[in-house]
This record gives sequence, structure tokens and C-alpha cells, in this order.
Amino acid sequence: MTSILAKLENSVSQALVAAFGTELAATDPLVVPASNPKFGDYQSNVALSLAKQLKQAPRAIASAIVDRLEVADFCEIPTIAGPGFINFTLQPGYIATLLRAIQTDDRLGIAKVKSPQKIIVDFSSPNIAKEMHVGHLRSTIIGDAIARLFEFHGYEVLRLNHVGDWGTQFGMLIAYLSSAYPEALTTANALEIGDLVSLYKQAKVRFDEDAEFKETARQEVVKLQAGEAGSRHAWQLLCNQSRQEFQVIYDLLNIKLEERGESFYNPFLPDVVSQLDESGLLEESAGAKCVFLEGFTNKEGEPLPLIVQKTDGGFNYATTDLAALKYRVEQDRADKIIYVTDVGQANHFAGVFQVAKKAGILPDKVDAIHVPFGFVLDKNGKKFKTRSGKTVKLKDLLDEAINRARTDLETRLQTEGRTETKEFIAQVAQVVGLSAVKYADLSQNRTSDYKFDYDKMLDLKGNTAPYLLYAYVRPQGISRKGNIDFQQLDADNKIILEKESELVLAKHILQFEDVIKEVEASLLLNRISQYLYELSQKFNKFYEECPILDAKEPIRTSRLILTDLTARTLKLGLSLLGIEVLERM
Ligand code: ARG
Repeated sequence: MTSILAKLENSVSQALVAAFGTELAATDPLVVPASNPKFGDYQSNVALSLAKQLKQAPRAIASAIVDRLEVADFCEIPTIAGPGFINFTLQPGYIATLLRAIQTDDRLGIAKVKSPQKIIVDFSSPNIAKEMHVGHLRSTIIGDAIARLFEFHGYEVLRLNHVGDWGTQFGMLIAYLSSAYPEALTTANALEIGDLVSLYKQAKVRFDEDAEFKETARQEVVKLQAGEAGSRHAWQLLCNQSRQEFQVIYDLLNIKLEERGESFYNPFLPDVVSQLDESGLLEESAGAKCVFLEGFTNKEGEPLPLIVQKTDGGFNYATTDLAALKYRVEQDRADKIIYVTDVGQANHFAGVFQVAKKAGILPDKVDAIHVPFGFVLDKNGKKFKTRSGKTVKLKDLLDEAINRARTDLETRLQTEGRTETKEFIAQVAQVVGLSAVKYADLSQNRTSDYKFDYDKMLDLKGNTAPYLLYAYVRPQGISRKGNIDFQQLDADNKIILEKESELVLAKHILQFEDVIKEVEASLLLNRISQYLYELSQKFNKFYEECPILDAKEPIRTSRLILTDLTARTLKLGLSLLGIEVLERM
């Protein structure tokens, strides 16, 4: 409803056709928010892009377009600037109409999509018996936000946890535990995850140096794969142990996920290999079954294989992903499948998608997208580790953020001479600490490496969660102070945008829907955080310049509407990032 961009794009497209004929019907009208507010609110750069094709000067093209533009009902007369930019300024009356429309709508004017596609988001996906690490944390935060975005827009979203719960490591682990810690294989919760992780490491050492043990481990895999009851039970116990640990993190971060681990696809693996064989793609290389990839070569320029079955008959990570793709296309009927992992797996997914397309597993109409993210570094740009060089436990990392948020809050309460209950302090510290971690991640371009810095993410100033949460708290304070129920504001009240900061804020509020649409295409969530950060800044400017509760009617109500719309946009935007707001902090 509020998509101003769509409305302008339509108008420019129609004017293009009117001026130059239907050949230009599919030309991108290149409308974007104006880079400099001096020139208006939006601009189209299409005239410049058409100069070559139409063999005309861009300014002449721009003027032919402007002559045919029908935007009088919502824009001032468009102007041409510089080499041929077309500038648009929205009419205040139109802005007021849109604001009033979203004011009375729970969804802030953003309708659900009419024909919702089915979207699978494969994210988080830690591995059993191994520690869930910061890379999984990024995947969890980013994947959850992507899922939330599509859910809000009305898509049918399936959130899948592709847990690493299968493979030769279980044979090794079971073989090791049967002598080192037999209770773990028969009794629930006999181990802590920390122990499980270190036992796993010990098992691996033994596996690598002891041939006899290796053979025992191999036999354990065979038993497990054959479904032998004791092995199955032991495996279940180990999985449950890890699962409980993962759940602690998911509960803290409020993450909903459906577990469908690698083991789920185990029965389908032989069929996948046959299908590759039937498509004539399968080759043998050093005893392993593989598919050679196009466009992927090693240092010597030789084509690289995607290995699907090892010499010993075992299947690979890629085989499971091919089976998972097939299942998701055929059984889940997904239209779009999104995988959130670090950039290190980019080649893996490119290979899997290529092979799946060739084998007819992945039809053209289904979009498979790898959403890569960079590595987590410490604030000095080094690999993220504890002081003693160990990997950082996620629970410790989150607790530390919460503790620091609590210390910050207690200091602030002291300076402000406030006293608050223990519950209040605990609640605020938890929300601020966890939001800070999430927001610090989501406010970066995900493709870059990300520096984990507690001081920066908890700062009350700058593009941080605390700054945004604070911008939300302000309107709530106004409501308490003035005894205002935002839901009862008179929707027919005139919207008055006299002051520059009011107008700027109003226009920014109206861009939200366009930002959401943009992010659905780019899957770059930092665009949403950037938008929310600017919204907070614009609101703070407005708040400093324009008296609200002390203003006379109808200005007072008009400003309260702007205040409420800011808060609701912030709340909705943050909720899409998986961040909850506070009424006071
Ligand atoms: N378990 C894998 C890891 O820890 C991530 C799985 C990602 N999803 C997938 N379908 N391959 O790296």
C-alpha cells in the first residue's frame, strides 16, 4: 500500500512507453530514493541509461519522459537535474494520506503477499558431539531473521535445522565410549556436552593412530547403519545430549527450528547415487564415485569432483545435501531454498546446485540460494578464541553480553539516581545483552568478516541495539507522561508537517515497505538495520526540535501520530531481526 517506489516505477515505465514505444515496456525505470534531499525525495536515472540505445542526449530523453509523466496526484512537478536525472518530490498531502492509512493498520500498511510461495530456510545446523560455535551463532541469527522477514510477509516458511547427526564419527564415538564411558551409551544424561566434545576429540586421536580401533569404529558404523538396536539407542542418547545443549541457546535467543538432521536423508542416499548414474554424470576417480564440476578447477587447472560415495561405500556431506534438495523439492514442494552458512561452504553449495540441476533434482522453477557470511573475529581482527586459545562457548559468550549489559545499566541507574527492582534489572540486561549480540551481527554486511566487540555493541550511541531500543523507549515515555493511549489517537486528525524534521521523519517512515521488499531480494539484513538506525536518528532530531506534549492541537496529535508510527515501525523492524523491545530501560 505504501510502496511509493512501485508507484513511481509504474509512472516512469508508462511515460517511457508513451514517449518511445512499447519496446521500452520492460526497461527498468531505475527509481531510487534521492541521494541528496536537496533534489527531492526520489530520482530516476533511466534517461542516462538509455542515451546509447536511443541515440539521444539524456536530458532530451528525460524531458520527453517528464512531458508524459502522470504523477500530478501525488508529486510536485518533476524536475530535470544535472546530466538528466529526473527528480520527484512528494506532495505533503499525499504523505499525510499515506501516514493516516498506515496509522490505522496493524501491519503498517504492508499487506501479505497474495500467492505465498513456500520457502525453506536451512540454518543454524550444528553438529552432534561437537560444540556449537560462533559460526553457528551467526547462521542462527541471520537465518532466523530471514525466516521472520518472509513469515511476516505471509510466505509459508519451513525453518530447518540440518543437524550433523550422522556419519562415521558416530562409529568412532561409540567404539571409544564403550570402553572409556560405557554408561554414556546406555543411560540418558550420563555426560555433559563438554565431556562429550572432549571425548569426541580423544576418540578422534585414537582413531587416527590406532588401526585396530579404526576397524572397531568401522564395524560400529556398519551396526548403526544396519539399525542394530543397541547402536541406535546409543546414538539416540548422544544426539539427545547435544540437542539439550543446543536448545539452551535457542531458548535464550528465542529461535524456533524444526530439526531434520542428516540422518533423516540416510535412506535416500543410494537412490541419489543411482539417479546420478542414470543421468550419466557419475564417474569413478581413485575408487570414489564422483561428478566432475564445470567451472571448478584445482591449482593445476584440472576439473574438481563432487564426491558422492567414498571407496569404502560411505556417503558424503554433498550426497546428503543432494538427497535433502530432492526431498525439499519433491516432498516439501519448496519454491525457494535458502542455506545460511559461512562463506567457506560457498563452493560446496555451488557444486551441489550444479549437479542437482544437471541431474534434474533441482528444476529451474525452484530457487536454491546459498546465503554466505564472513567469519567471526575478535575486536583486534584475530580469530575468535578464549584467552587460553580454546573455542568460545556460546553460552558463555551470551552470558557475558548479558552481564556487561547489567553492569552498564546499574551504572546508569546510579548516575540517574534511579532505583529499580531486581526483576527489572534482570529483564533489561537480558534483552539489551542479547539484542546487542544479534544486532551487531545483523547490522554488518553479512558477507564481510565480523568483529565481535562487546564495548561497541553495547554502546548507547551509534548504530547499536541499545541506541535503537532507547529510541523506542522514548515514545513510550511520552505516552506515560502525557497519559496518551496511542491506539486511541484521532485518526482523522490533520497531519501537519511544518518543520523540516517532521517532514523528513514522515518520509522516512513511509520507506519501510520498500526496504523490506529490497531485503527480500538481496537477503542483506543490514539494510533493515540501517533503515532503523536512520529512523531513530530522524526521530531523535524531531524530538529535540518539536515540542510534542506541549504543542497546541491539531499539531499535538499530529506529532503524537508521528511518534507512535516511529515506535511501531521500530518495533516491527526490530522484530523482523529477532529483537524484542522494552517499554522502559
Ligand atoms: N552442519 C554443517 C556445519 O556445521 C552446516 C549444515 C548446513 N546445511 C546444509 N544443508 N549443508 O558446517
